[in-house]
This record gives sequence, C-alpha cells and structure tokens, in this order.
Amino acid sequence: MNTRVLTGVTTTGTPHLGNYVGAVRPAVRASTEPGVDAFFFLADYHALIKCDDPARVAQSRREIAATWLAAGLDPERVTFYRQSDIPEIPELSWFLTCVTGKGLMNRAHAYKASVDQNAERGVDPDDGVTMGLFSYPVLMAADILMFNAQKVPVGRDQIQHLEMARDIAARFNHLYGKGRDFFTLPEVVIDENVATVPGLDGRKMSKSYNNTIPLFEGGEPAMRAAIGRIVTDSRAPGEPKDAEGTSLFTLYRAFASPQESAAFKADLAAGLGWGEAKTRLADRIEQDLAPMREVYARYMAQPALLEEILQHGATKARCLAIPLMAEIRRAVGLGSVVPAQAAAKAKKVARPKFVSFKDEAGAFRFRLLASDGDTLMLSEPHADPKSAGALSAALARDAQSVELVIDGLRFRIMHAGQIVGYGDAAADTSARDQKMQRLREALLELG
Ligand code: TRP
Repeated sequence: MNTRVLTGVTTTGTPHLGNYVGAVRPAVRASTEPGVDAFFFLADYHALIKCDDPARVAQSRREIAATWLAAGLDPERVTFYRQSDIPEIPELSWFLTCVTGKGLMNRAHAYKASVDQNAERGVDPDDGVTMGLFSYPVLMAADILMFNAQKVPVGRDQIQHLEMARDIAARFNHLYGKGRDFFTLPEVVIDENVATVPGLDGRKMSKSYNNTIPLFEGGEPAMRAAIGRIVTDSRAPGEPKDAEGTSLFTLYRAFASPQESAAFKADLAAGLGWGEAKTRLADRIEQDLAPMREVYARYMAQPALLEEILQHGATKARCLAIPLMAEIRRAVGLGSVVPAQAAAKAKKVARPKFVSFKDEAGAFRFRLLASDGDTLMLSEPHADPKSAGALSAALARDAQSVELVIDGLRFRIMHAGQIVGYGDAAADTSARDQKMQRLREALLELG
C-alpha cells in the first residue's frame, strides 16, 4: 500500500529562497520516492483568512503554482490542485464544524495570539478576529481528512493543527462511523534534516522579517542584489574567517555538495574576502535556479497552461472527494430520501453493470458498462469464470478502495495492490479524466 502524503501552501505571498529550500524542494523530492502518493495543493480558501486583497491572492496562486512546477513537480504523478476547485472541501468543513467543540478552537495558538495582543492593546479580546481565523483549524482538518492523508509534512507552527485534525477525525468516526472509520488519523511529519535558511540579517528567512532573498521574482539581478546585502562581520580580505554559523555559509551549504562546501570553508579560512564570497554564493545558487527560472517564466507567461494543469489535478482530486462526500452525506442523514438501489428499480432506470464474456484466447473477462451502455473498464483475463465473478463483486462492494492510476492516455484499475483492469484509451487528457470520473461514479452506484 502506498503512503499518502499531503500538504498545502497558503497563497498569500511570493515564494522566496527559504520557502524553496525549506518546503518546495524537499516536498518535490519526497514525491518522487517509490511508495509515495503525494497530494500538494494551493490553500487559497485559507488565503482569504489572512488577506483581503484579491489581486494579491490571485497573483500568489499563479506564482506558487509556477514555482512548484518549476521545481520539478510532476503533475501526472502528484495530485496537484487548488483547494477552491474542490467544493467538497468546504462542505466537509461544515460537517466537521458541527462535531468540533468550541473549546478546542479556543485553544488554537493563532487565535490565542490575537486575543493576547488585543489584551495588551487594551481592546476587546476578539477585536479583528474573524470566524475564518477562529475556524481555520477545521478547514485545515477538512483538507487533510478529505483525502485520508497518512502523513502531513508541515512546519512546527502547524503541529497543533494536526493534533486538532486527529481529534476531529476521531470524533466524527466515533459519532457516525458505526464501526467503520471514515477518516484516517493523520500524522504530522517534521523533517529535522531540512535546512531552515537564514535571511539577510541572520534571523530565519521570513517575509515578516523583511529579510528574504527572492527566488524567481526580479530574475538573477534581484537574487544577486539581495545576496550583496547579507550582513557579515568586518573582517577584511586576507584575514582568516570562520565560516561556521555565518548566514553566507549556511546558505551555500543548502545548495552545494559537501565537497564544494568544504572547499568554500577552506577558502574563507585562508582569507577569501566577503565580497568575493558573496559572488561565489550567488554563482552557486544561480547554477540551480537558472534552469528552473526558465520553466517558471514559461508558466507565468502562459496562464492557460497553468490552468489546465490545475484543472487536471482538480479532476483527480474530485475522483476521490465526490464518492467520499456521498457516503458522508448519507452517514449524517443527508442522503437521498430514496435508497439508491430502490430508486433505480422503481423508475426502471438502467444502472451500470458488469458483463462477463470469454475472449478469443478462451480466458474469462468482464466489462463494466455505464447505464448508457458505454464500456468503462475491461478486466484482466482470468482462467476461470468464478475468480472473474468474485473480483467484479469485490469491486462493487469495496468501491472506495479501488484506485485509478493514470498511464498516459489510459488508466489502470487497481484493487488490493493488484492490477484488475484498464480503462478505455482516450483521445486526450481531459477525455481520460472524464472517463475516470464516470468509472468512479459507476462503481459507487453498484455498491
Ligand atoms: N495552514 C498551513 C500553513 O499555513 C497551510 C495548510 C492549509 C495546510 N491546509 C493544509 C498544510 C493542510 C498541510 C495540510 O502552513
């Protein structure tokens, strides 16, 4: 079984070098590891909590999406989407809100910090606190629980939110699960090996300290100019310098190999001047950034391309979100008043069905036909009709855990770690995505 890893980025800022080293680069690397199913998304509903400037939010979404793609994210492999393209997320957020204690939210650090600041200023404790800020951890829980993420890599400031997501998931499972757990309890992942890079003044690089080095914005000149402003001590060229603990060297090490870093350190000890050291740092960073900057510029110049990728990601994400929400609606008592099977019988409405047949090679296979007769999937061959029949029954029973895996313009249907069949080849990616969605819905209707 693959491990589902999910993380989101709030779309209010422009990515800087610290975001790249501390979040984007490690996440993209992790997404290429075998056995990992990565879900990365733009948390643009969350952006509205922090920012009421529409232009800023819109621009940030584009910059962050282009940055992740430039950093090598493969949108075929990763489910890469925008939170606001998944209407099931705010719907789930409401269901979760209804089982979340207000007392739990009162304890959230972000909310408490606002209340404390208000107390210091002698104003009303809830001054400037919106319901968005107050309920933020519930929306974040919905992001995570919707896709049953097992691992959630985040910064330390988010640990409490993950604990809350677990609390909320357990409470929902207990109230409505009837012995079946709707939601996986997610685990927080704090990567100790990921470098946090210092900013120009030596403190952690952060927009709120105004000490950042731009990643792509402003191009190479802006990056070099910022590096020129890194604070150093007053040792002159020729004087020996201890690299350890300086911002300059820490930044260098975040990009260079151990050998390159050792050579840089030795040169500083031998008297390399700070000015020249800054040039070497900028050259080394540029070596990594230059090829990415081109990709970034291409996506920024072609918003339609970016939009297509995000829509594709939304389709993949909704293939999972739609059926789960249908189940959850039923579980809380908000399903159709007529049970699905009875409704179809009463109206004599055609329903999707499995049909089995013997292929030219004499093997037993089945197809799943949509209610209009279209073929949605073709099974692998089976030596005997019983095993083919048992498998189709298992797919109908266990539709939730059927996985659809994209394979070019086709897709594979997986169950319990086995390939069970294939979807029809499609003419293009959006036709393929539609076929995937139809198959999902049909499987669910059978169950
Ligand atoms: N709140 C997170 C942050 O500020 C962003 C985020 C929103 C997130 N939803 C998430 C991260 C779900 C992980 C999982 O960093």
